[in-house]
Amino acid sequence: MRQLLQLKSSLFAHHGQSSQLSDKFVAGLQAKHPQAKVITRDLAADPVPHLDGVTFQAWITKPEERTQEQQARVEFSDALIHELRSSDVVVIGLPMYILGVPSTLKSYFDHVARAGETFRYTENGPQGLLTGKKAYVLATRGGNYQGTSYDTQTGYVRNFLGFIGITDVEFIYAEGLNMGEDSKVAALGAAHTEVERLTA
Ligand SMILES: Cc1cc2nc3c(=O)[nH]c(=O)nc-3n(C[C@H](O)[C@H](O)[C@H](O)COP(=O)(O)O)c2cc1C
Repeated sequence: MRQLLQLKSSLFAHHGQSSQLSDKFVAGLQAKHPQAKVITRDLAADPVPHLDGVTFQAWITKPEERTQEQQARVEFSDALIHELRSSDVVVIGLPMYILGVPSTLKSYFDHVARAGETFRYTENGPQGLLTGKKAYVLATRGGNYQGTSYDTQTGYVRNFLGFIGITDVEFIYAEGLNMGEDSKVAALGAAHTEVERLTA
């Protein structure tokens, strides 16, 4: 491991359960790979703006025809993509908010999905360009949704990462966190044990 990118999106900063699990995960990997660089992007504290028409237009404008504002918007997305491209491990804290992924994470995904940069269209459909990476997702939820139609996150995040070429993705779940103390303690205990196992 040369570089790890940690993406956080909890509204509760370092108190968030997904933040705590992902921090522990990152600390475990760091202990094993002390020379590796770690980049942490807290999308809740420092949000990526919604993808709007002005930004998308900037992306599809030829470099020599871009205005200064368009160039700045391209460079913002370029910087996020560079961070992701140069990382070989990605650790994502994934809280469930209102039956979906945090909107801040969606905005980030929107800014790193760029044709010609992270994926390209071929005769056989889209091809992801960020290959050779491993992603770990620490998913935290108030309810128990795994395997049901309410789990809108697993398929979406797996499909999105696959779309840009990150196909080796492992999910660690802590569910039922708002279903009483026993449920919470058991779920967090199991998730923390899984993190320890994966980073041992
Ligand atoms: C605004 C908000 C919306 C939430 N929506 C859901 C939900 O739709 N389904 C669910 O199971 N839990 C929901 N929860 C509970 C969170 O998933 C749970 O608190 C989890 O720990 C969030 O991760 P975090 O602690 O890393 O922020 C919600 C919590 C908040 C604050």
